[in-house]
Amino acid sequence: MCGIVGYVGPRRAQPILIDCLKRLEYRGYDSAGIAVVGKSLQLFKSEGEISVLEGKMPEMEGSLGIAHTRWATQGKPTTENAHPFADCSNMLAIVHNGIISNFMDLRDALKADGHVFSSETDTEVFAHLVESELEGDLLGAVQRAVAKVEGTYAFAVVAQGGDEIVATRRESPLVIGLGNGENFVASDVTALLKHTNRMLYIEDGEVVRVTKDSVRILDSSGKDVRREPQKVAWNIEDAEKGGYPHFMLKEIYEQPSAIHDSLLGRVESLDTEPFFSDSTFSNVKIVACGTSYHAGLVGKYIIEELAKIPTTVQISSEYRYSSVSRESPLMVLVTQSGETLDTMAAAREARKRGNKTVAIANVMGSAITREVDHVIYTRAGPEIGVAATKTFVTQLVALYLLAMDLGAQNRTLSALARRAIIGQLRSLPRAVQDVLNKAQEIEALAKKYHGARDMFFIGRNVNYPVALEGALKTKEISYIHGEGYPAGELKHGPLALISKDSPVVAIAIKDHTYDKMLGNISEVSARGSPVIAIGFEGDTELAKFADDVIYIREIPPLFSPVPVIVALQLFSYYLARERGCPIDKPRNIAKTVTVD
Ligand code: M6R
Repeated sequence: MCGIVGYVGPRRAQPILIDCLKRLEYRGYDSAGIAVVGKSLQLFKSEGEISVLEGKMPEMEGSLGIAHTRWATQGKPTTENAHPFADCSNMLAIVHNGIISNFMDLRDALKADGHVFSSETDTEVFAHLVESELEGDLLGAVQRAVAKVEGTYAFAVVAQGGDEIVATRRESPLVIGLGNGENFVASDVTALLKHTNRMLYIEDGEVVRVTKDSVRILDSSGKDVRREPQKVAWNIEDAEKGGYPHFMLKEIYEQPSAIHDSLLGRVESLDTEPFFSDSTFSNVKIVACGTSYHAGLVGKYIIEELAKIPTTVQISSEYRYSSVSRESPLMVLVTQSGETLDTMAAAREARKRGNKTVAIANVMGSAITREVDHVIYTRAGPEIGVAATKTFVTQLVALYLLAMDLGAQNRTLSALARRAIIGQLRSLPRAVQDVLNKAQEIEALAKKYHGARDMFFIGRNVNYPVALEGALKTKEISYIHGEGYPAGELKHGPLALISKDSPVVAIAIKDHTYDKMLGNISEVSARGSPVIAIGFEGDTELAKFADDVIYIREIPPLFSPVPVIVALQLFSYYLARERGCPIDKPRNIAKTVTVD
């Protein structure tokens, strides 16, 4: 997830581009860059936030340009890897949002044709690809180049001597802002609202040519498209959250595309490069904090089922002070920020103890990525809300991929089984979308239960950690005291606290523990506690046991944590909203915990 802007008109492009770009900084902020067409193509980029670029860049003359703020997914967040990218002769510049999944093949072919690359990114291939197609107009070159690209993208391209921006998209947002005698391009309306509220939304596969007084849209077969502009009613603050009242809600809704992006290029074929081609492991240890620890607990079930490798999970701050010298040949450190101090310290300790280390992280180039042997990046994009949502779900995706990889190495997973898993992973965005479509139902439940002081969350097997995560989300943002338990543990203590004032959220999907869950639900109902169950669609039996049921689409139980947690995220969000809590910035906690 990155931010793109473009300007063409009578005014100086540079200050307009920087101002627009700053409104997209929430989409990515590890590096930024700008290209302006003047007497020559002027291009400047820098590592760090947009203010760093602004402080360093020279004055640029010209009234046509593009700019970009980056959230690294391919290649570290360095100046070299920042956008825009130029071609070999510095005649054109491009910016990109998305992931080019076939970039390695394209790069090899372009290199063989003599193109010289300056970065590790997937994006740079597009600059050279357009260059290689540049006979005649820029529009035609972009059309031909984009036909060779696989993956997701929004591209904007300018060329020296031209008077136009050519842009195109597939599964990444792209909008044209219409001004008077000037026009704008952006990945997000947020960037443009200061200048115009008249927008043309570009559809997948379309290519658009934008000059100061014209916009021409062509569909994927090259036919002209007529489209009426739309008026946007947002104010600037609303728009930064994409129209959502809170970042947390926006991030919950981004989960289908975050899952999709996290799979992209990784499950296209069974021959995809394995994470560890050189090793097999007799056991695995996962170390993490908070929500990432809960992802690790789910990961234990996943790895044990798919790869048949015994797996233990430990909280980072406990692991780092433990005394076992070499316990696990493979240590998996899960951390969305990549900066959590306890997890960093655990990574160092693990290496000192001679373990192979792999980090699952969301922030490219973050501290932990320099401490470990291997990194699996989640591709959730920046998460602004303190409550981890889309990063949790993409951590689960990374753990499914890791387990599949270990299973293939261990020969516990046949090609057929892996194909079936890939099919399940690909269906997850749809399963999550189904839950999001039930938001109003979940909101109504939150209205019913928001007065509770305590809430219990119970689950079994792979959904036991999901119960823990549901409880953490609830306490973190709604300040309701939420406790998660393995349902079988209730009778060993917590039942003493169950009463009509403590609703119980029970995850009761149809797996081998289902009957036991129904028993647990009966136990708490008998003590007067209202029960909100989460079960599979079509399970009419469950409704006889619970006061309310949130139904999710039936999928194999091992994959159910993904849609189940989305239902619980929405539930905690609406509980917090009903209680008037500061959802994105809950009291006393920070997004990144860099202290002991
Ligand atoms: O950045 P990390 O994943 O290492 O963060 C770990 C925890 O601080 C974090 O998951 C925390 O529990 C979340 N804010 C909960 O929503």
